[in-house]
Parts: sequence; structure tokens; C-alpha cells
Amino acid sequence: MGSFGGVSADAYARFMGRFSTPLAVPFAEVGLAGVPASASVLDVGCGPGMLTLELVRRRGAAHVAAVDPEPVFVAATAQACPGVDVRVAAAEELPFADDAFGASLAQLVVHFMTDPVRGVGEMARVTSPGGRVTACVWDHAGGGGPLSLFWQVAHRFDGDARGEAGLSGAAEGQLVDIFERAGLADVTQTVVESTVAFRDFDDWWAPFLLGVGPAGRYVGTLDAAGRQRLEGALRDELGAGPFSVTARAWTAVGTRT
Ligand SMILES: C[S@@+](CC[C@H](N)C(=O)[O-])C[C@H]1O[C@@H](n2cnc3c(N)ncnc32)[C@H](O)[C@@H]1O
Repeated sequence: MGSFGGVSADAYARFMGRFSTPLAVPFAEVGLAGVPASASVLDVGCGPGMLTLELVRRRGAAHVAAVDPEPVFVAATAQACPGVDVRVAAAEELPFADDAFGASLAQLVVHFMTDPVRGVGEMARVTSPGGRVTACVWDHAGGGGPLSLFWQVAHRFDGDARGEAGLSGAAEGQLVDIFERAGLADVTQTVVESTVAFRDFDDWWAPFLLGVGPAGRYVGTLDAAGRQRLEGALRDELGAGPFSVTARAWTAVGTRT
């Protein structure tokens, strides 16, 4: 079972989709820049379809394909994006011919790949020569991710909490390195951001209890007292609200040779 096995599309949307939906706007802008309107584009690790929807808005469903290893997410994307070719697959083994797309994009996925260089290499293989490959990962290592405060406070009580800072691509320059090792040319790094407004503290906190991703799974390992202690410390940090959170993601862009 993958890193999002057992997570419903709705839980994902409430926990991470609230950040990745607005992030998809600037990310698609970067990933589609200069890509001809007639070219098909691929969303790798589509989840329940946050970036897929943005690609459909910009290019039309007939020009968009998407994959994710989680069947529940694939079903949700197929439902949200009728006409898109959505398949169950991992980045490391993409079920498409060489040169099939004008652009391949992976939003918040490389750090969950079993083999990031192979996954990005596959994205390059299915992209036509001169086409664009783009990926982003939250700035977990630099403290600019949407979960950075959560992990900072969790570490205060539990030095062994693993966090997400060590994941591939979460530190400055790492995605560029992965792209270059995967054989992409003219690789550059940029940053994309999203800002999300929260009504109050509970609006921010409640989705952490849904078991989504490493942070949700970590909360699930705590007993009631541990959860309350963590929640209380986070409430002290953030206040009652309303407030907004701005999160940034390292982004690499490369050209298929
Ligand atoms: C944080 S979610 C991002 C989903 C979506 N792209 C978004 O921006 O909301 C990470 C996604 O990567 C998928 N994933 C995990 N391992 C993968 C792999 N090896 N290849 C492709 N996708 C993978 C997960 O199933 C999950 O849907």
C-alpha cells in the first residue's frame, strides 16, 4: 500500500487539497509555459485531481492525462474531470509511449516516489524532445511548507518525530539535482506559493485528525493526552484566528533532450 493508502478523496481534499488547489494555479503556469496548445499534458501523482482540474481548465479534458498509484484517487479524478485519461500507475512505470506528451507535471509527488530519479526519468521519457518536465515539493526543510509549524511543535515534545524535511526534493536545490540525474537539460529552480485563509484554529486543526500523509499518520500514533498537548501548543502559536498560512514549494523545470 502506498503512502496515501486508505485515505479518502474527501479527507485528502480537506487536509492537503486546500493548499494544493490554489498552488496548482501558479504551478500550471510554470509547467505549461511555452508548451503548444495542441500538445497533450500529463499529471503524475494526481491525487483526487487538484492539478488535473487546473490543467483541464487551461487545455481541455481531451488534452489531459493523469496517473496515481491509489485507485481511490484515480476514481475521484475520473469523476471530477470527465474526458481525462486517468490511470492507476506509479511515476516509476508510466503506462505511456515515449514522447507522448508536450509536458509532464508532478505537483507534491517526488518526495513520495520510491525512486525519484527513475520517476522523473519516466516523466522525461514520455515527454517529447523539447518538451517540459516540472515538479514541485513543499519547502519542508526550509520551514516554508504548510506543515512546518506542525512539525516544529511536534519536535518540541518528541525528538524522534520524523517530520518531512528529510524527504527527497524538500530542500533547496534537491529537485534540480534529481532532474539533472534523470537526464533533463536546462534545469532551473523556481518557487511557487499558495495562501490559504482559515476561519479559526479548529478549521486549520480538524483535518490533522483525518490520518492523511505523514503528519496525519503521526497524530494517529499519539494517545489522547499527547494529542491534546500538541493541539494546545499549536493553538498557543496560531491563536484563535482567523488567520492565513502562506506555503512555498521548490519547483524544478527541465527540458527533455
Ligand atoms: C501530496 S499528494 C499530491 C496530489 C496532487 N498532485 C495534489 O497536488 O494535490 C501525493 C500523491 O502522490 C501519489 N504518489 C505516491 N507515490 C507515487 C509514485 N511513486 N508515483 C506517482 N504518484 C505517487 C500519492 O498517491 C498521492 O496522490
